[in-house]
Amino acid sequence: MLMLTKTAKADSELVKRLLKCTVADPEYWSFRRNAVREHSHGMFQYPAMMVPQMQSRLIGEIMAVDGCVHCVYDPFVGAGTVLTEAILRGLDFQGCDLNPLAVLVSRVKAGPFFVEAFGSRWKGVKTRAETDRRREVECEYPGWRKWFTVGVAIKLTRLMRAIRSEDALWSRRFFWVALAETVRLTSNSRTSTFKLHVRPAAEVASRTVDPIAVFAAIVERNLDRLRENATLLDASDRIRRGRYEGQVQVAWGDTSTEDQRNGQAKADLLVTSPPYGDNVTTVPYGQHAFLPLQWIDLDDIEPDISRDFLSNTHAIDSRSLGGIRSGALDEVENVCQRSKSLTRLLRRLRDEPRDRALRVAAFWRDMDKCLLTVLQRLRRNAYMVWVVGERRVANRIIPMHRILAELIESRGGVPVTLLERRIPSKRMAVRNDISETMVRERVLIMRKGVA
Ligand SMILES: C[S@@+](CC[C@H](N)C(=O)[O-])C[C@H]1O[C@@H](n2cnc3c(N)ncnc32)[C@H](O)[C@@H]1O
Repeated sequence: MLMLTKTAKADSELVKRLLKCTVADPEYWSFRRNAVREHSHGMFQYPAMMVPQMQSRLIGEIMAVDGCVHCVYDPFVGAGTVLTEAILRGLDFQGCDLNPLAVLVSRVKAGPFFVEAFGSRWKGVKTRAETDRRREVECEYPGWRKWFTVGVAIKLTRLMRAIRSEDALWSRRFFWVALAETVRLTSNSRTSTFKLHVRPAAEVASRTVDPIAVFAAIVERNLDRLRENATLLDASDRIRRGRYEGQVQVAWGDTSTEDQRNGQAKADLLVTSPPYGDNVTTVPYGQHAFLPLQWIDLDDIEPDISRDFLSNTHAIDSRSLGGIRSGALDEVENVCQRSKSLTRLLRRLRDEPRDRALRVAAFWRDMDKCLLTVLQRLRRNAYMVWVVGERRVANRIIPMHRILAELIESRGGVPVTLLERRIPSKRMAVRNDISETMVRERVLIMRKGVA
């Protein structure tokens, strides 16, 4: 009883604190004027990243009412926005993502922060790449010619060889991230969309890009960003000899099947932004990663990543939430029993082409599996922050926050509050039909409950 009173008090204090932010500025949570990606947040352009300032504020407010937050968990870690904010507060962090590129970027953001050593290693990498005269292309992907001119592919290979010669994994990972961004900017795919979309032949022919110069600019920028992050961590006495002192784990894997590893401490706070729907028709994280991952040694991310993951441009996305649609309408039935909003939505989609309902069903079938794992990873009464986008299927808004809340409640979770924010700028494809639909985000705050 005492416990209940304490958590109820913390909940109402938290709601009060969050509402206070909107008194002076009703659009506070939109972070319109203040969404710059500073220090490590700006190292890589990953799709649909969260606004760091918002995460920081939310983590801070929750820590103010829950004095036992030591470890933050993000089951859809992406480019590690929550990770960076968690370590700046001296917290431990656990994260997971299915996309190897997300895991690589997040691991680099967790350190080490050997700023001087990175600087001197950079000189070596640069010299090796610039003095390499070999002209063969070492890309295992047979279809590379569609996406790269021969000149670009030769230089990307030189960079790849120069990075491979680095003896330390921490160094190679840092440079792989810069190479990933270089590949994105120098390939024949348009950069205005996260989907792979080849430029017209005439544009490819007239374009001049030098991957080594692009890479150099990215490395210099990322070195500055790493230094800024190290300075912040240093100022709060959170790094020793360039290493963050807390525990950070970023796993590569599928959150819906991730086991609670033996002896792993439960997390005290969840902060995450899950995908908006199946990756193929919303944000194609896998497609965005496809070309960069062709030039990176996967073993340097995780030893058991099979190249099947890169067998085609959809291979990662079809393994993500909602990626496999067959059987989904039957399998989602037990999920519907726990969510009135999902049942209603699927009923309304019955008159639409079957594929619409299948997409929604497959996504929620998989999301519900994730919830089971996610809740097991949290300690009792842990707060959860779910940042969810709004999307439409067959011109109907998917009430993502409501379905999510109902499913979490069915597993013992307790609703705390809901914030709404308008998205200041979405870096979606301008011509992509989801761009104008995702203009609002909801921040659903819940608590795990005592089970
Ligand atoms: C909205 S993004 C997260 C962005 C992140 N919050 C950030 O600020 O960078 C969602 C992430 O979920 C990942 N994802 C999709 N299905 C997954 C699954 N089954 N298990 C783990 N991660 C998954 C995607 O690869 C993507 O990185």
